[in-house]
Amino acid sequence: MESSYEAHYQKSIQNPTAFWGAAAEDCHWYKKWDKVLDDANTPFYRWFTGGVVNTCYNALDFHIENGRGNQVALIYDSPVTRTIKKYTYSQLRDETAIFAGVLVAKGVQKGDRVLLYMPMIPEAVVAMLACARLGAVHSVVFGGFAPKELATRINDAAPKVIVSASCGIEAGKVIPYKPLLDQAVDMAAAKPECRIIFQRPEIAADLKPGIDFDWRTEMATAKPQDCVPVAATDPLYILYTSGTTGVPKGVVRDNGGHMVALKWSMQAIYNMNPGEVYWAASDVGWVVGHSYIVYGPLLKGCTTILFEGKPVGTPDAGVFWRVISEHRVKTLFTAPTAFRAIKREDPDGKLMGKYDLSCFEALFLAGERTDPDTLHWAERKLNVPVIDHWWQTETGWAIAANCLGIQKLPVKQGSPTKAAPGWVVKVLDSKNKEVKPGEIGALSVKLPLPPGTLPTLWKNDAGFMRSYLEDFHGYYKTADAGFIDEDGYIFVMSRTDDIINVAGHRLSTGGMEEVLSDHPDVAECAVLGVEDSLKGQVPIGFLVLKAGVKRDPSEIEKEVVQMVRERIGPVAAFKLATTVKRLPKTRSGKILRGTIRKIADNEEYKIPATIDDPEILTEIETALQQMGYAGARKPKP
Ligand code: COA
Ligand code: AMP
Repeated sequence: MESSYEAHYQKSIQNPTAFWGAAAEDCHWYKKWDKVLDDANTPFYRWFTGGVVNTCYNALDFHIENGRGNQVALIYDSPVTRTIKKYTYSQLRDETAIFAGVLVAKGVQKGDRVLLYMPMIPEAVVAMLACARLGAVHSVVFGGFAPKELATRINDAAPKVIVSASCGIEAGKVIPYKPLLDQAVDMAAAKPECRIIFQRPEIAADLKPGIDFDWRTEMATAKPQDCVPVAATDPLYILYTSGTTGVPKGVVRDNGGHMVALKWSMQAIYNMNPGEVYWAASDVGWVVGHSYIVYGPLLKGCTTILFEGKPVGTPDAGVFWRVISEHRVKTLFTAPTAFRAIKREDPDGKLMGKYDLSCFEALFLAGERTDPDTLHWAERKLNVPVIDHWWQTETGWAIAANCLGIQKLPVKQGSPTKAAPGWVVKVLDSKNKEVKPGEIGALSVKLPLPPGTLPTLWKNDAGFMRSYLEDFHGYYKTADAGFIDEDGYIFVMSRTDDIINVAGHRLSTGGMEEVLSDHPDVAECAVLGVEDSLKGQVPIGFLVLKAGVKRDPSEIEKEVVQMVRERIGPVAAFKLATTVKRLPKTRSGKILRGTIRKIADNEEYKIPATIDDPEILTEIETALQQMGYAGARKPKP
């Protein structure tokens, strides 16, 4: 590769066809593309139209045919079950081919959807790859979501088959999945034809004859399947992510563009070569898990790690160093919150000293802004580059990064560095005009987006247009606000919608408000994300009760907390709600969530000129103080 970031970047922007066409040569194609970038139906761009591929072939078979059959492809490291299990490329391919046979026996064909509700076990990876092998479209739902969220996704994706396991294991607790799955299927209007359940030793799920099938029993008789060639533009997966309402958005990923971009990114961004060990400490239910636990490392011929544990408590804050040392990890990718958790338990990094970390070369962080404290702590303790990079479920890979495999640029704290090759990032004002360097505005990406990004939302082109393309003509709206400095460094400051990031998990406060409003005693409510020293942000709720409600408000507060847990899931970490007489609003009735958040976070705030009754803010401030949030700083006069 050329050694200069600038040369690389310019080439990708001036001639995207040549740039991505060259990257695509690194992959296996049954038939090469007619067009690298197809702009016949703008603003819906397509990559590699006319090309025929199979992502699973590229992730497994290709490497076996090129002599990597005996190399370890996947290491399952599960401190919660005290298991370490390794799969070579040949073993992973064989398991995948047989599970593809199980799916075929259940009627799954190219284009059918298969929903996976799985914990972090190798069978989750096998099931994803088996779908890719058949050209079926997988949709993985994170295990921390409640049945209602699962039901919403079942309804939208209408899967023919659901694959699940008897339980997930969270630090110290076993969470039975099957009852959650049964509830979700009962709630959903779209009914899958069958469910395949992997029984874990910790809990056996009850299987209903004729509809639930045991993973191992089915595997014993299934016929291995070959890869099915699919169009490069065919969908590989749907991944649902929080939108601004309770209805999640089905982000679609294609086969061809995704494969090309991810394989390229493994070298260009993460500086990884075939045979090296890469670890994304995330979950297969999130985009990071899709891109960098499963597809990216395997497409590149690396060894990937599937870690079923937490940064702390499984068993201690040294587990990351143990995994790095034991499996000779070169690059780790995780969320800053994981490092904050480690730093909190082991501030001096003493546990690092127990392990040989000489193999470790770089730490990548994403999911939320890397706070300077965490950045400097990690840099000092690990003595390797700590790279903040910015991306979204929609984009599938980094919009901005310090591309270690091209040229390491100087780090500026608080910035994920510059736009990655392929991305033209601009800061726009509300009139679609670019603002000056250093001025905050809407971070937007000029169309077309590079390969590997979402071509649309599942069965919802109109929603795709509305959510991403309509506000800034000719641009993709990231819904992040920020600025770009004189040197081209991007700074991501906050979301422009109601999305919050809780421990690296993306959640909608609007979705939580929908749950709270459903409580029979609640007249009005507001949920907002406030600063949290561990999780980055956590949601808190304000309730206004209906006139005439005589019940103890604290009982109602407990009930709404429980409702969010039951309807959205424990992952929402919604633990605090309080009752107030009224909510602060503008004269036109808009709830001033931003002002409440500023008071909570102890930021300076202006009393909005349009507020209907400024006195309410005093009550809000007192309520926040009672919940443990600051509100000590006085408003600007
Ligand atoms: N299945 C079922 N429940 C789950 C779950 C899963 N897959 N994942 C999380 N949960 C539950 C947890 O058990 C917890 O429940 P509780 O309220 O009963 O304790 C709740 O959801 C919140 O979990 P979590 O966000 O993991 O918080 P935590 O307090 O247990 O741990 C951290 C805090 C920071 C250690 C943890 O969030 C973490 O490791 N974060 C890294 C995040 C990450 O990798 N994000 C991916 C983006 S790169
Ligand atoms: P998700 O779709 O869950 O990956 O969340 C995407 C959102 O997380 C982005 O829109 C940002 O708001 C936030 N985010 C991700 N990476 C970063 C980063 N490096 N810096 C700041 N915010 C980030």
